[in-house]
Amino acid sequence: MSRIVEDINEIVNQLRIGNVVALPTETVYGLAADATNDDAVCKVFDVKQRPKNHPLIMHVSSDWDLTTWVETIPKYTEALIKKFWPGPLTFVFKLKKDANISKLVTGSQDTIAIRCPSHPMALEILNKLGRPFVAPSANPFGRISPTNAAHVLHDFPTDTFFILDGGTCNVGIESTIISCLKNDSCSILRPGVIGEIELQEFCKVIKSESKIRVSGNLKYHYQPQKPLFYFTNNDIELVKNIFLKDNNIYLLTFSSIFDNNLTNYTFPSSVKSAARELYRQLRIADNSNTDLILIELPPNHQEWNGLVERIKKAGKNIRTNE
Ligand code: TXA
Ligand code: MG
Repeated sequence: MSRIVEDINEIVNQLRIGNVVALPTETVYGLAADATNDDAVCKVFDVKQRPKNHPLIMHVSSDWDLTTWVETIPKYTEALIKKFWPGPLTFVFKLKKDANISKLVTGSQDTIAIRCPSHPMALEILNKLGRPFVAPSANPFGRISPTNAAHVLHDFPTDTFFILDGGTCNVGIESTIISCLKNDSCSILRPGVIGEIELQEFCKVIKSESKIRVSGNLKYHYQPQKPLFYFTNNDIELVKNIFLKDNNIYLLTFSSIFDNNLTNYTFPSSVKSAARELYRQLRIADNSNTDLILIELPPNHQEWNGLVERIKKAGKNIRTNE
């Protein structure tokens, strides 16, 4: 069985000897391994049961020189790094040919995703390790991401890696990923709490034209075990008259359209607070004694895009069943 620990040095040691560990970041817990070690990176794919063509994010400390790994660093990214690192923003750059990282990290593509996490424990580990680690979310592929150490333990009951307890993740959903392969603009590959409006202060944000392999491009992801359907306020009658009458349902909402006694949980009205709760509440719903989960979509504003995307990928539209 995996073990929850509090000793950072033990975690650094595990990474040094090529083992995987789970560790906290400010977004979600990550399943980490030394990015320069092929065998260690391979273990991450095996433990997660993740297809090898889904590249991993390389995590670095904020004062490391990115030209060690990156071919071209567009000017505007320097301002973005200054503003948002350490923090939940991941950059996709052109990879330098002779960069010293495992080919498995990038899925042999010529681009690399890099971020600097702001959780103090993650930063301390990077600084002590002295080289980057990869860290996909510490959940089995396609499932709900973990936002505390107990979630990780729950998801990997038969594995034997160490899980560093760093409390509850402050952000709660994965980092925003932007493609920075063009010199004059970026595009959002995966939305997160840093949104288009904040990015636009520093560079032009264009629609993503790429077919890059981002898990966010999969139709389903972040999924609970129970069936989950999402709805909007156009579907209220359908929800009230059909679903709530005939089924044993767990109901999650973002507004007060339903009576309190019908709703199991209403998310906070601020994006940041709601993001912090999303995965935890989905996990509670999934472990409840109900047959279905229904969740209202958040308001239709760009700042909620990160949550809307997670919810749509976690379930199906109540009307179309798609
Ligand atoms: O907040 C986060 O980013 C968390 C924490 C643990 O740091 N990590 C995370 O990793 O979400 P993961 O593996 O669950 O998601 C990484 C995403 C995937 O969708 C992957 O396809 C994409 O990053 N990605 C990695 N390398 C890429 C690349 N070179 N080009 C485009 N997308 C890439
Ligand atoms: Mg993930």
